[in-house]
Amino acid sequence: MNPDLAALHPYPFEKLAALKAELTPPAQLTHIPLTIGEPQHAPYPAALKALTAHQLEMARYPATNGLPALRDTLAQWATRRFNLAGLDAEHQVLPVNGTREAIFAFVQAALDRTRPAKVAVPNPFYQIYEGATLLAGGAPLYLDCTAENGFRPDFSTISPAAWRDVQIVFVCSPGNPTGAVNSISEFKQLIALADEHDFIIASDECYSELYLDESAPPPGLLQACAELGRDDYRRCVVFHSLSKRSNLPGLRSGFVAGDAEILAPFKRYRTYHGCAMSLPVQHASIAAWQDEDHVRANRDAYREKFSAVTDVLTPVMDFPTPEASFYLWPAVPNGDDIAFTQRLYTEQHVSVLPGSLMGRADAQGINPGAGRLRLALVAELAPTLEAAQRIRQLIERG
Ligand SMILES: Cc1ncc(COP(=O)(O)O)c(C=O)c1O
Repeated sequence: MNPDLAALHPYPFEKLAALKAELTPPAQLTHIPLTIGEPQHAPYPAALKALTAHQLEMARYPATNGLPALRDTLAQWATRRFNLAGLDAEHQVLPVNGTREAIFAFVQAALDRTRPAKVAVPNPFYQIYEGATLLAGGAPLYLDCTAENGFRPDFSTISPAAWRDVQIVFVCSPGNPTGAVNSISEFKQLIALADEHDFIIASDECYSELYLDESAPPPGLLQACAELGRDDYRRCVVFHSLSKRSNLPGLRSGFVAGDAEILAPFKRYRTYHGCAMSLPVQHASIAAWQDEDHVRANRDAYREKFSAVTDVLTPVMDFPTPEASFYLWPAVPNGDDIAFTQRLYTEQHVSVLPGSLMGRADAQGINPGAGRLRLALVAELAPTLEAAQRIRQLIERG
């Protein structure tokens, strides 16, 4: 077998299961999980309808490129959302089976293994960035995201010598697990660095449609390109998904957009990889990307939840003001995220993800995720609020 497989870390949920294995939660309380980032709101009905209406098209092989109607829809959506001059639906857009699959495949396709290959990732981070890098023969370069840097990587910490080996920089905005949002000027600064040091910016924007201030949608990398007049989106690719936007994580539908010079070889890779999106899923995706009403309603539901949960937790926990995504990233009062998680499960039957499980420690043993929890506010309002109240009770009990 591929020896690189041995380099993969156990997934955070495996580690969490081990931490909880010996614990006995109180049977009289129902279990409330705030762990997995799987939306529990209703999926967009018109997408499901389209899936059924087109089910007989399962009889046909789909093409890697996707239907022209899907690519047009994706190009138009991104153009509207990010104020682009335009996206060439033939060469600058590619449907993918969710961003997880696409991120993984992208690193395999993009890394040049004939020279040192570093991939810069935020730390703590969505685990696929690291796994994809290790399996592609690259090495992750962890960029700590802490309260001091607003939970966004500080690229000025990378020396010119270290930049030489960096081939890809992953951005996750809005961030998982921190919820932090990159500003347009930060995107522009990163584009300047990409030109200076010749790397690809891979911007994972799968939470871009879940934001709390309706008048301030998170900016995207392509939007920064557009403002710079960089209409070929050189060195830039973005990843978008219907999983969170339309509550369709099981549909496995997203897209990649940006630099045609990068997307062409990526498409070639995908043709061999065999990951074309099935035709009924393409039709369902067209329906979902063409509608914004359900996305606004989805945001309203998250807004209500964030407001209720932060009202309960603000007096007892410190956390960055939530702007986007469906995560809250609070610090635990005594700094020990593992012990707090275990006590919360044992005494209150609430499951959360300790922040340290999503980060990597540096040589000094400092893990920038330690001391915080990732709370995924994905369930309906009542159980989510109940979980927040139980967390507060635990803290107030001391
Ligand atoms: C930061 C981030 N990127 C990508 C994904 C993958 O989402 P999907 O493959 O459903 O598009 C997730 C899923 O939780 C995520 O948190």
